[in-house]
Amino acid sequence: MAYLLLFGELPTAAELKDWVHTITLHTMIHETTKKFLEGFRYDAHPMGMFISTVAALSTVYPEARNVHDPAIRKLEIARLIGKVPTIAAYTYRHSLGYPYVYPDNELSYAANFMNMLWKMVEPKYQANPILARALDILFILHADHEQNCSANVMRATGSSLADPFVSVAAAAAALSGPLHGGANEEVLKMLDEIGSKNRVWSYLEQVKAGHGKLMGFGHRVYKNYDPRARIIKWTADQVFEVTGRNPKLEIALELERIALDDEYFVKRKLYPNVDFYSGIIYQAMGFQPEMFTVLFAIPRTVGWLAQWQEMLQDPEQKIARPRQIYIGNEAREFVPIERRVMLPTLAGM
Ligand code: CMC
Repeated sequence: MAYLLLFGELPTAAELKDWVHTITLHTMIHETTKKFLEGFRYDAHPMGMFISTVAALSTVYPEARNVHDPAIRKLEIARLIGKVPTIAAYTYRHSLGYPYVYPDNELSYAANFMNMLWKMVEPKYQANPILARALDILFILHADHEQNCSANVMRATGSSLADPFVSVAAAAAALSGPLHGGANEEVLKMLDEIGSKNRVWSYLEQVKAGHGKLMGFGHRVYKNYDPRARIIKWTADQVFEVTGRNPKLEIALELERIALDDEYFVKRKLYPNVDFYSGIIYQAMGFQPEMFTVLFAIPRTVGWLAQWQEMLQDPEQKIARPRQIYIGNEAREFVPIERRVMLPTLAGM
């Protein structure tokens, strides 16, 4: 999937072998980057750690700024795809105070990620194949999604010819907001707040009265059921066979049932999106909600890099610069500081 996004075609068997080899060569992070991660507070949000550490890779690989050199671009793309699961897993271990686990390159991309998350003292980590497959499916579904907020930030940042590490960090920062990739974390908080199936109706009434939004619902492009949510719902059933059913699922299903039948949501074409069920799976696997957006950022790194590469190869591409239309006063008189008065609207800022 990553190969397809980056090169436009699925690989042959030989190309795939070579690609997997290239990515696995780059799964380790420099020991100084590991130490950098250790410096975060014990309760630092994993997404803040992820964004900062990806940006810090720019200092480890200064040649990455040669963005017009195809060989260097290819190398940095492989580094980023190889290293984001390592960084993500280390943010998780850091939150728990566990020692970091080095990558195991004999494992698949998803299984190695699980190894770095969950290996304790056993000599070799054995990933549950159903959970590894579920992570793979979630990674595929989250890899790219046209000109969403973070892809747009990736292109805008990259258009100044900034290096791919700081550009991916900028895109990840955009992803972290609750209206974008941060929504999966918010969904779980919302389900916690609702607490039980019989409180769903009154919660929806509050949303309809303008108190907050229904997180995991609505999409700028999809004005129908997000096709990714359908596959995620199916994947949830597979995961629950291994982990046991997440009790939050009952609340989520009830929320979906009532909302899809309610005039407010029907009229506005608000359906569950990709973030609605993914958090329920992640929680069943043992992740805290704070990790959910980091799990989104791992596969989306591929999408950002594909968007970045496409942009750099476009001969018409120029630096991003939206046009501004000035709507303020035509001319203003300079007022010396001792004669200025504070505007009432600014007083409370
Ligand atoms: N709950 C309640 N009302 C909503 C919601 C919601 N989740 N989303 C939109 N509306 C209402 C909105 O208030 C507006 O109502 P009115 O016409 O009365 O003013 C109407 O629906 C149209 O909304 P909009 O703000 O024009 O829609 P948008 O396309 O600008 O926003 C969105 C898209 C995803 C930001 C928004 O639906 C939202 O905030 N959803 C909740 C957050 C969320 O789940 N985000 C994840 C998006 S999918 C994955 C990703 O991008 O990472």
